[in-house]
Amino acid sequence: PPVSLIGVPTDVGAGHRGASLGPEALRIAGIGQALAARGVDVRDCGNLSGPPNPWQPPVHGYRHLEQVVEWNRALMEASLRELRDGRMPVMLGGDHCLAIGSITAVARHCRDTGKKLRVLWLDAHADFNTNEVTPSGNIHGMPVACLCGLGPDALTRLGGDAPVLRPEQVRQIGIRSVDPEEKRLVKQYGLDIYDMRYIDEVGMKAVMQQALEGVDADTHLHVSFDVDFIDPEIAPGVGTCVPGGPNYREAQLVMEMIADTGRMGSLDIVELNPVLDTRNQTGRLAVDLVESLFGKSTLMRD
Ligand code: ARG
Ligand code: MN
Ligand code: MN
Ligand code: MN
Repeated sequence: PPVSLIGVPTDVGAGHRGASLGPEALRIAGIGQALAARGVDVRDCGNLSGPPNPWQPPVHGYRHLEQVVEWNRALMEASLRELRDGRMPVMLGGDHCLAIGSITAVARHCRDTGKKLRVLWLDAHADFNTNEVTPSGNIHGMPVACLCGLGPDALTRLGGDAPVLRPEQVRQIGIRSVDPEEKRLVKQYGLDIYDMRYIDEVGMKAVMQQALEGVDADTHLHVSFDVDFIDPEIAPGVGTCVPGGPNYREAQLVMEMIADTGRMGSLDIVELNPVLDTRNQTGRLAVDLVESLFGKSTLMRD
């Protein structure tokens, strides 16, 4: 389907400033041209606007809740507009709090069109904190919990109904940092987590086969790609890097196997922080991986 790039220049959910520059870094790394070269009809919708980062401490365990709600409301509306227009929204983030708005829109669209929704969460983190257990108050550590109905009404009911997702619709891949109380919550909610230990033991191919099991013609696959998923040795331009992530080959395989399903209907590219990057290395790597998500491969011609 045709693609709409939606810039979401925000870092109000993050613990470091700079993810707000992510959309421009992805454009400069050539995301639009790369997709066009794949034969994709791409429209760049430009950047959404929203409140600036007030850089305040958490209140009741939430940092910048009001600003996070505003950004996500704007994104939910923009994303829903593109989906209803028959286009695939690709979110250029921006910190990972934006997945609340993007996935709320996708879930609503799936409900309207009778599609099953599956979310692939590529990340070093589970992002399943609540205001009661968060070590930071940063809302980019909470989107999965919010989408599963755990969080403030302003975020869990952005689109009216909650919960937006049942935990069994989510598969998390690459996880290697879960906070102590967050661990208890992901167990309690039964989240499907393919952590690095499991990836080491069974290999990325088997992991992806399992994560994609049951994806069929009636499935809308939403990919939420937190760039800190990738090993920081090759992807240093992120605010919350954790060593021991997937290497270049493993990350490529993940993207290629998603592309093979032909079912990706929406994509977040989040947490790229150009301020912490080296000559846009991480931005260029993200674009390289996104090309594979859109079917680029060595030998297959199209
Ligand atoms: N678990 C940590 C926290 O809640 C880090 C979250 C990082 N999330 C992210 N989307 N980069 O503060
Ligand atoms: Mn992360
Ligand atoms: Mn994340
Ligand atoms: Mn830090």
